[in-house]
Order: sequence, then structure tokens, then C-alpha cells
Amino acid sequence: MSIVIGNKQFAAQEWQTLQSHFFSHDVDPEFICVEQSLDLQGEVSLVGAKNAVLVIMASLLLAEGKSVLHNVPFSADVVQMVALLEELGAQVMFYPELNVLEVDTTNIGSCQVPPSIMKKMRASVLVMGPLLARFGKADIALPGGCLIGARPIDFHLKNFAKMGVSLEVDGEFLRAHAAQLKCANLILEYPSIGATENLLMAATLTQGKTRIVNAALEPEVIDLIALLRSMGARITVHAPATIEIEGVEQLRPVEHTVMMDRLEAGSLLLAAAITGGSIRLPHAVATDMEVFLLKLQEMGHEIEIGVNGRGVTLCATKQPQAVSFATAPYPGFPTDLQAPMMAALCLAQGKSVIHETVFENRFLHVREFQKMGAQISIEGDRAKITGVEELYGTSVIATDIRSSCALVIAGLAAKGTTAITGVHHWRRGYQALEKKLMHLGAKIVMN
Ligand code: EPZ
Repeated sequence: MSIVIGNKQFAAQEWQTLQSHFFSHDVDPEFICVEQSLDLQGEVSLVGAKNAVLVIMASLLLAEGKSVLHNVPFSADVVQMVALLEELGAQVMFYPELNVLEVDTTNIGSCQVPPSIMKKMRASVLVMGPLLARFGKADIALPGGCLIGARPIDFHLKNFAKMGVSLEVDGEFLRAHAAQLKCANLILEYPSIGATENLLMAATLTQGKTRIVNAALEPEVIDLIALLRSMGARITVHAPATIEIEGVEQLRPVEHTVMMDRLEAGSLLLAAAITGGSIRLPHAVATDMEVFLLKLQEMGHEIEIGVNGRGVTLCATKQPQAVSFATAPYPGFPTDLQAPMMAALCLAQGKSVIHETVFENRFLHVREFQKMGAQISIEGDRAKITGVEELYGTSVIATDIRSSCALVIAGLAAKGTTAITGVHHWRRGYQALEKKLMHLGAKIVMN
């Protein structure tokens, strides 16, 4: 029984029950209903980054003992990762009201990720590196793709093989085994975040020096590196994008505060931008999203950045201008803000072009925006948006975490009511983001 809300304890698998105790509604809502809500105003805090906390939770398997994480968001993906760690034998206590997570990995008894968990959350693949490093084996159910792309794990597997890992497909399982991991010179043909993280974690306990060339260096990867260093790992980062790891005998459990979620910050800024309002995010880290902020400024929104890049304020223009951009690995425009940004560009004056270079099928939200009256055409990996005067509320379908957010943002500006199905996507990626938007003046009902 691992999740404590008030004086009640729940198992991680009781997600539905958990929701009713934490999100104060009786059953899992079918829709997010958004009324037109103009001129959002106010200040809100941020939660810990989903794409940092999931890999950090997996990395705790590298050290024997009890670690404590702060600023852990209460989202479905985090609860799923709690369930996975417990499946492997960890003792976990999660206090969502405090955003504190305690993980004791003393009694890990399994190295197998069952299909039931892998199917729900692809990030489960991130336990491979830690399990191989500490126990010499990892059996994972093969992660499927998802709607935004096939999302293979070939970069992970090719490079694990270079570290001496033998891989065998056995039915629906991929069985990985290494009597002794070997240090290696690993060259990523693409700066994959997951592959960088998995290989980095494996190398921390591998004797000798391992290099990861063309590594991903997103802020979430840097947060993982900070945690691993506090565990005793010996990691150096060399420009432009090489990570060097000197393996050590053992790592120690730690206490760590997860970085703020730059994707939540970007979504909140866009909610204020599209409604002509203003917002202050005192905990946002501007340096985590400078290209994104540049594009907001080019649209005509006023952006103010706090001392040392801490804190971002946006005051929206009433005449937003079209802008164009390509998504790219950090420090480029983050692909996870592509759909939310497209919502704002639907109402910008002029023509915008979005070039999606990271995933091969990440325009599923276009069809939904078109239902709302947006003028968008797709040509290969480019979406061409011609700004319109109005969007109209209607029923739309969220197809992934970030499209659910994009449709909520569009619904804030659209005339009438927008009913968004796919609430489970919203719950996977955010901790009650609807409450923050309502605090700013948004009219949202979960039902
Ligand atoms: C991480 O996914 C994030 N997830 C994604 O966020 C994010 O969109 C993505 O990075 C890109 O920024 C987490 O951190 C949990 P990649 P990941 O490996 O690691 C291809 C969200 O909404 N590729 O950098 O899976 C892959 O198909 C999610 O929060 C291979 O071909 O992303 C994709 O086209 C969505 N072979 C590209 O590389 C591989 O072995 C980038 O993937 C690995 C990846």
C-alpha cells in the first residue's frame, strides 16, 4: 500500500479510487469541458517535470537503500512508475499532497517489466539501464509504439550490445543479460533522450570510461546527471554533446528535488497568450525554453524574465502575429510544445509553418483544430496554419498528452464550449493543471 492521501493509504493500481480522493470527483471524468475564457490573469506555481521524474525514479534502482524525492507531481505516469518499482520489489511511499516520494530498493527481487505495465507507459523501458548495471539482467515486455510514432528502441539496444549485453526476444519479452557490462564508445546517430538516459545509467556502474557521443542534453537529462552525481557517479559533459562516465563500484541513495516542468510552464504561458491575458510564473526557468520564448516574443507577446533567468512573466498582445519554427532536440523548439503552440498560431495574423522533425506522426491534433474552424494544411512533416478570426467550441478528441493540453488551450479562446475526450492523456502528463487554469479565470468542468 504505497500512496498516502490524508490518513488513507492506497495501492498504486487503485488509480480510479485515487483520483476521487485527490481530484475531488467521484468517477473518472469522460470530458474536459472548456468554456471561452478570455483574459486569463494571475500567478501560478509549477510542479516537478514528468520527463525528469520518471527517469529519476528508475535511476533509484542503481543504489541500494532508501532515497527521497521532492517536487514529484501526482500524475498517472508517476503512479504507474510507482507500480513498476513495487513490481520489481521496491518499497515505495508517495505523499501526493506533499509531492514527496520515498523509494527503498533494498529488496529488489525481480528484473522483469510485465506487458501490463509496459503497455501503459513506454518510459518503463528506462529501468533497463539500472537493472543491467546493478543485477546484470532486465526482461522487458516489448514497448509498443504510440500514435505519435513507432518509437523504436533500436538506439538503446544497439548500444547496450556494445556494452556486452546479450539480447534475446522470447515471445512478448525482450530478455537482456550481461555477466559484466563493458565500457564502450557509444555514438548515437540521433540525440535520443531515452537512449542517452538508459546508457548513461548503465555506464555509472560499469568499470572504465564510457563515452556517449551526440547525447541528448535536455534540461531533464541534466537533472538526471545532477541526481546521479549526488549518488556518487562520475560524469562529465563535454561540448557540444558528449557525456563521459567513469564507472564506480557502488552508488548511494540520495535526497533530490526534481526540476520544475518547463512543459507545464510553456502551456500556462500559451493559455495566457491565446486569451489576451497576463501571467507570472515565479518558478519557471527561462533558460530551459529560450527558443520557445523567442517565438512568443516574435508573435508580439511581452516576455519578462526574472533575475538569473528565474521567473517568467507574459503580457499578451491583442494582435498576435504568425511565426514559423521547426521542432528540434534541445536547445531547439521542444516537440512537446508543438501542439500547444499550434493552438495559439490558429488565431495569429498571417501564415505560420511548423516543421515537426522529431516524430513522424505528431500532427493528429490538426484534424481536431480544423473541427474548431482552424485553417491548417499538412504537407509531409510540415503544417501550414493560416490564422483565423475565431475558433468555435465543439467535441474534439485528445490523442496524446500534449494534444490534450493543446485542445484545452484552444478551447479557452474558442467561442462556446469545447468538450475534449481522452482525459486519461491529460491525467498522465499533468497534476490538476485544470485547477491552475481555473485559478487564472478559466471556466473548465471535468465531467
Ligand atoms: C522523450 O521520449 C519524452 N518522454 C517525450 O515526451 C518527448 O517527446 C521525446 O523525448 C522527445 O523530446 C520522456 O522523457 C518520458 P527520443 P523518448 O528517444 O525518449 C526516435 C511527452 O509527451 N528513436 O528522444 O522516447 C524516436 O522514434 C513525451 O511527455 C529511434 O528511432 O524520445 C523519435 O522519432 C512524448 N530509436 C526520436 O528518435 C530509438 O532507439 C526522438 O525520440 C529511440 C528513439
